[in-house]
Amino acid sequence: MPVNLEAEAWRHLERAVIEMDGRPIGVKAAQDPDTPALNYDQCFVRDFALCAPALLLRGRAEVVRNFLIETLRLQSSKRRLDCFQPGKGLMPASFRPIERDGETVIDADYGEESIARVTPVDSVFWWLLTLRAYRRLTEDDELHRNDDFQQGIRRILELTLQARFEMFPTLLVPDGSFMIDRRMGVYGHPLEVQSLFFAGLRAADELLVGDGEWREAARKRLPHLAYHVRRYYWLDRERLDAVANGGVDQYGPDVVNVLNIYPDSVPDWASGWLSDNSGYLAGNAGPGRIDYRFFAQGNLLAAMSALATQEQSQRLLTFYDERWDALIGDAPLRLCYPGYEGDAWRIVTGGDQKNRPWSYHNGGSWPCLLWSFAPVALRFGRSDLAERAVKAAETRLAADEWPEYYEGERERKVSESARRLQSWSMGAFLYAKACLADPELVDLFCWPDTVEERAC
Ligand code: GLC
Repeated sequence: MPVNLEAEAWRHLERAVIEMDGRPIGVKAAQDPDTPALNYDQCFVRDFALCAPALLLRGRAEVVRNFLIETLRLQSSKRRLDCFQPGKGLMPASFRPIERDGETVIDADYGEESIARVTPVDSVFWWLLTLRAYRRLTEDDELHRNDDFQQGIRRILELTLQARFEMFPTLLVPDGSFMIDRRMGVYGHPLEVQSLFFAGLRAADELLVGDGEWREAARKRLPHLAYHVRRYYWLDRERLDAVANGGVDQYGPDVVNVLNIYPDSVPDWASGWLSDNSGYLAGNAGPGRIDYRFFAQGNLLAAMSALATQEQSQRLLTFYDERWDALIGDAPLRLCYPGYEGDAWRIVTGGDQKNRPWSYHNGGSWPCLLWSFAPVALRFGRSDLAERAVKAAETRLAADEWPEYYEGERERKVSESARRLQSWSMGAFLYAKACLADPELVDLFCWPDTVEERAC
């Protein structure tokens, strides 16, 4: 008898629900019985966001509601002048209930315990996206309107919008501050953080009641961020030619090569990689720097939030279509392309064995990315691609016990250090299937209208 994959994924996902004093408040990242839990028995904010639609659609909205309340309670709310406490507005990467002095309390990690002590910049944005999806699906208008939530949203804006050293509309962050939470050369202005920032600002604007200083600031930032990312991150043949033949070291307000990108920075693989009709947003762009690597989640989130223009999103899908084997293959989807090898790998990752060439964050393939790929393909008229990716997932994911990621450049296999029964692999699969059955569900995390850009 054929296995009902959705029923199986849901059965496992429901078992991952974490309770505190009988109240469900989140989901464990993974339930692999054969690997030490490390921190995979915790509820990660970013992982939960990808599981939220499955919970909302299958009658477990109370888990999402409680998660939103608990995470808000964990948001740091005091202005701190020392560096050993989370800054005001920050939300944790992950949390779990523990027993302390005969009481159940929540133990949260703001990066002070995580491997390499990385900062979870993205948590606040995932929380906002989860809150928006919860509201859209349940039509519960009370939760986000209550004072604690309104205050929490304003704190996020204050944390992310206040003036800092540089005068860019983008967020400047340390290495490993989001889903890629290890050293990977993704410090500075990584695309995924900018896409989440943009989507987070749009969500905050929707969820805030009444006007105010911070809402005004969010509305002002959106058009500038759109201008900056659409212009300076976008890569297609024309842009690569412009970089290869452009002038450098230009000074003053009206220069063409604003970021001073040198022609030599274009890697050999980039030139033959794009067709006349394809394009994507670079992994990072900052002073003197474009990271030409392709990062899936940042690109897909840019399409979902309409940070990318309609044309850019369509060209992104053409790119996927033309480079299917490299970017998707039989184990969707590649997190980053290409993986760094040799000296580049040693220098960029510091010789990180988990991020060895074509594994984990460095070119591995992650089923959780179906969460964004399926809605983007459906939203931009390529249901054929959504179906194809889900079909590939159906062939492998359950047989491989819902792994966290695959490794390998061409042949993909489950990595030895990949967890099985990984919650967001199951949650993403369930949401992708739900979108195929009812394409209106893409609106849970997508924005249909664009943001007009304004020069910085
Ligand atoms: C790894 C991933 C991170 C994820 C966590 C839990 O640390 O890099 O993105 O949130 O596992 O699944």
